Amino acid sequence: MKKGQFPDGFLWGAATAAHQVEGNQYNDWTEWEKENADRLAAAAEKKFGNLPNWPDIKIQAQNPHNYISGRACDHYNRYEEDFDIAKSLGHTAHRFSIEWSRIEPREGEFDKKEIEHYRKVIAALRARGIEPFVTLWHWPLPLWVAEKGGWGWRSAPEYFARYAELISKELNDVHFWLTLNEPNIYAGHVYIKAAWPHGSKNPILYWQVLNRLISAHKGAYQAIKKNLPLAQVSLAYNQSYFEAYQGKITNRLLKKIADWFWNDYFLEKINGFSDFIGLNHYHHSRINYGFNRNENKKVSDMGWELYPESIYYVLMGLRKYNLPIYITENGLADADDLQREWFIKESLANILRAIGEGADVRGYLHWSLLDNFEWDKGFWPRFGLIEVDYATRERKIRPSARAYAEICKTNSLIIDSHS
Ligand code: BGC
Repeated sequence: MKKGQFPDGFLWGAATAAHQVEGNQYNDWTEWEKENADRLAAAAEKKFGNLPNWPDIKIQAQNPHNYISGRACDHYNRYEEDFDIAKSLGHTAHRFSIEWSRIEPREGEFDKKEIEHYRKVIAALRARGIEPFVTLWHWPLPLWVAEKGGWGWRSAPEYFARYAELISKELNDVHFWLTLNEPNIYAGHVYIKAAWPHGSKNPILYWQVLNRLISAHKGAYQAIKKNLPLAQVSLAYNQSYFEAYQGKITNRLLKKIADWFWNDYFLEKINGFSDFIGLNHYHHSRINYGFNRNENKKVSDMGWELYPESIYYVLMGLRKYNLPIYITENGLADADDLQREWFIKESLANILRAIGEGADVRGYLHWSLLDNFEWDKGFWPRFGLIEVDYATRERKIRPSARAYAEICKTNSLIIDSHS
């Protein structure tokens, strides 16, 4: 056993996103949910039937109601209670998103009441000594933007920058800003897989949207910095660890291409428009004459491989940007909380190792504070440090959250040398 110490001032906490936790949204996702709930329920067995936990999730996954975000966790009304818990767990930072469709439900009409709501959310965090990380767009779009083609609409970045400008003027005590959440995951799910609103398999549009999101980020970055020159602005970007199996030449070549395209293209394009790196990390892809040839020794409830070493490699790769790094998401679906404590500790041990080798990591925000609405999968994947009973909206702290709290409170990790 040895004790690993994190750097002074390291920020600890968790993340959420408006659509997944707040409840009562009205945006392009809510409309899509209504249109697609029956289809998603009918396809569940084909998609998830081979997961080991299928017997446990089957009833929920085959129920169309599961695919409607509805009241979600009712976090919109219960944020104070949720932040009380976060504080009791030693969190010193919290990432959440502002819902564009609430702020600007119709083009050019900004809702003062909703701005006030988020002002109170930020004040509630500050009152508890928790540093806010504000995301401006975590996937749903106002209906008027969606009707014009979403990010396929040429002017979308300008309107997004206008929204960023307004919010950063109104909420001017926020220091950490994230313009976009995972543009690469979003564009892929919408325009390659056609799995999310308003999906179409269209590689040309995919490429246009990805590049439009680059403009959206840059425009929003400039708008925020104009109002708040000292603010720290970035985005939450999803990177995977691509491993070239056995160093074979074909695998190394595929890794180079994947690293360039998936991990670096976007970040390189926004060079100079980013004050830190916001890293969302979940996936390892072992390349052996093809991607995702993983061993899958341990998997989450969603069948995703649990491979905590991967974050070390991703952080090593990020050193070249010479920017501070905040981990803005990292976590797993684990309803029974059997693997979360292990996963958090192993991931943090790997983060410490990366810090020891020069990665300037300054914070860790676990995904997620609460169980929440997992997009096209609905409510059965449970990512929360806090369990939510969707019948009563009651919160229950999972044991892993208490183990994580020990780390947050002591700014250190006991590393079990046997693991
Ligand atoms: C997203 C979250 C999502 C999580 C787990 C990330 O890609 O930002 O919204 O819930 O992964 O799938």
